[in-house]
Amino acid sequence: MPPRRNADTGGPQGTPPTPTPGPRAVGAGVLAAIEDAAASLRGRDLRGEELARAVAEVSARYTRAREELTEGSTSQDALCARLRFFLPRDLPKIEAPLAELARAGAWTAKPTLRVLDLGSGLGATALGAARYALRAGLAERVEVTAVDRDRRALELGETLAQAIARREALALGWSTRAEALSASSAAGEAPDLILLGFVLNELAEGVSEDDALERQRELLQALVGRLPEGGALIALEPALRPHSRRLSRLRDRLIADAGPAHVFAPCLHRGPCPMLERERDWCHESLPLALPEPVAAIAREAGLREAHLTYSYLTLTRAPGSLAALAADRAGYRVVSQPLRSKGKVELLICTDGPLRSLRRLDRHRSAHNRVVEDLGRGSVVAVQGAQPRGPRLEVLQDTDIEVLQTVAPDDEATPPM
Ligand SMILES: C[S@@+](CC[C@H](N)C(=O)[O-])C[C@H]1O[C@@H](n2cnc3c(N)ncnc32)[C@H](O)[C@@H]1O
Repeated sequence: MPPRRNADTGGPQGTPPTPTPGPRAVGAGVLAAIEDAAASLRGRDLRGEELARAVAEVSARYTRAREELTEGSTSQDALCARLRFFLPRDLPKIEAPLAELARAGAWTAKPTLRVLDLGSGLGATALGAARYALRAGLAERVEVTAVDRDRRALELGETLAQAIARREALALGWSTRAEALSASSAAGEAPDLILLGFVLNELAEGVSEDDALERQRELLQALVGRLPEGGALIALEPALRPHSRRLSRLRDRLIADAGPAHVFAPCLHRGPCPMLERERDWCHESLPLALPEPVAAIAREAGLREAHLTYSYLTLTRAPGSLAALAADRAGYRVVSQPLRSKGKVELLICTDGPLRSLRRLDRHRSAHNRVVEDLGRGSVVAVQGAQPRGPRLEVLQDTDIEVLQTVAPDDEATPPM
């Protein structure tokens, strides 16, 4: 039997772990920096009901009614909603994809990490990446270039980044470029990491699905072509069915290309995305993190979740490789559902290079080898040995060994959209 691995490190059990910390909700430093930056909003720093209303409006724009709210996200109220609610909520979302790169050995520490954040808005994604890289010891200094067509968002983002660097004593440099995103957005830069936080779907507005996919494919290939050998690009998208399914279709197209982009994650295989087979499925993540107060209070008042971070993502690297490295030469699977519990059994959907399969364990087969199946959630990665294939199922028996290569605890998804 191969050596067991330490769940969150990828290191063989018994050896000192290589730390790859998981995502964390923002803390006092970021919240204090938000207060500092809010001073620059002058007369339109909203609180209470007014703030909750602005948050609910921006949320509706992103989830349902884009076309109805033309002024929405560029108004001063929306800027305040983005600073006081969406930024602290969304900032940790980039941390899990970054942790995966590090865990699988595809991201090595460097003295200065250069980050290009495209469609940066207030910089939530770059700030999350910078804080994570510094916390995880993956960089000694982070230099961010934030690019967006919205000047006011860039200005507020820069003020906030300076406040966070001051409050948290971070070695963080920040510069901005006000321009529309294009295939040449990375020209003249030498980024190690390119980020596209919740912006790809905005580039798809008003064009046919096929055109949107083709534009996104060309854009991502061109951007990855600007990366050095060890570089990566991460696109985050809302965990909404149409956006997530488009990201999966984009992933299939990129895999069919000759490069330069290599699909690193979320998939452990290069087969067609099995989530696209049934219209009702969509590949997304759900991290069991709770929002800190006072952000949680705003969520409650606006009718949004106060826990669970949901998003979809695609990680591309310049060098060949994928998250399958975690499993080495064993059969590794990504868990793509929460545990489905019913009388006498627990089931998880796992992604394979064929159809989606269910990993099922009957309670009467519960043993020390397979108990861990109850603690897995969407985004966990496991190596399974000795399971019995039965139709669409992999049946976990008493002596089936389930080795956890990446853990994400189960999350309660029966809450309003986040
Ligand atoms: C939903 S916000 C996301 C902001 C940030 N990346 C985050 O993760 O929170 C999308 C941002 O993309 C910007 N954007 C949309 N289309 C763009 C384009 N064609 N060129 C440059 N920026 C664009 C918007 O101005 C907005 O700030």
